[in-house]
Amino acid sequence: MYILGIESSCDETGIAIYHSKKGLIHDTLYSQVSMHSEYGGVVPELASRDHIRKLVPLIKKTIRDSNLARPDISGIAYTAGPGLMGALLVGATTARSLAWAWQIPAIAVHHMEGHLLAPMLEETPPPYPFIALLVSGGHTLLIQVDGIGQYTQLGESLDDAAGEAFDKVAKMLELGYPGGPKVSLLAEKGTDRFKFPRPMTDRPGLDFSFSGLKTFTMNTLNSTKKTNQDKADIAYAFQKATAETLSIKCKRALQLTGINTLVIAGGVSANTKIRSELLKMTKKQRATLFFPRLEFCTDNGAMIAYAGCQRLLAGQHENLEIFAKPRWPIETLLSI
Ligand code: KG4
Ligand code: ZN
Repeated sequence: MYILGIESSCDETGIAIYHSKKGLIHDTLYSQVSMHSEYGGVVPELASRDHIRKLVPLIKKTIRDSNLARPDISGIAYTAGPGLMGALLVGATTARSLAWAWQIPAIAVHHMEGHLLAPMLEETPPPYPFIALLVSGGHTLLIQVDGIGQYTQLGESLDDAAGEAFDKVAKMLELGYPGGPKVSLLAEKGTDRFKFPRPMTDRPGLDFSFSGLKTFTMNTLNSTKKTNQDKADIAYAFQKATAETLSIKCKRALQLTGINTLVIAGGVSANTKIRSELLKMTKKQRATLFFPRLEFCTDNGAMIAYAGCQRLLAGQHENLEIFAKPRWPIETLLSI
């Protein structure tokens, strides 16, 4: 069964085809980064308009490049939330219209479930149950995953998401958008000069807070002459504090649940310092760390096609409704 996956929740148009037995057949990504970078961040209206321009040509190209024809497609999976409402509606209406015209089912996929299941696209997928650290631009979540749709949220960010903090620090350091990779690149030139706090690690619990760390970063920056080396040292300290904070909370989640498999996914999981910190911690804990390949850490159509395929195989799909939810708690999903 070939499933077409459509991702359009933010600033990437991702299209993929996943086969229930053969695995991922093809995936295509069009990034809007160069368009938004002029404005220093994502402009929702421009994002929606660009998805409108790119979606149909990309779908046609992906089907053609997979050496398939339209009748080969048995179902459509699309990101229905969380995300930017306008951007989501473009994907949802396109997916629904195609499904209606082609007389095949369509399934609304939760964007964070897509991220969470992205490591399943790798040769060695993680076994259930596992702890997932989902770190993206809008979310920082610790979830116990017992199976698809069997999600227990253990912790979340009480204010900024980890990716959001990276993006805001990038702005302070005048690095522009998208912030995460730029902070990470600058941190490579930094030295271990400043000691930043590890927020909420001195009290029990699995919630996160990054807004204080952001303010601390700003105050530290203002206490310097803002030379290139000052900025690099600050990027280094911020990244180190974030990586260690995430690692402390993940270690706590593994210890509290007795689970010894950790998955890290979402855009921030592309960060090499965070990966190496978690790798070090899981080794010490005799646990195993799984993460998606780099291009599947950030938004992509493959993870949506995979998640949708599993749900369609289980017989789940909606009727004719166009389903788009900018806010959508992951714990409310059906299990399969
Ligand atoms: O998952 P994603 O592509 O989109 C959302 O669902 O939000 O995540 C985007 C976030 C952005 O905040 C971006 O700055 C961050 O992931 N990010 C990174 C890195 N690459 C992307 N943060 C830190 N280091 C990176 N290498
Ligand atoms: Zn995402």
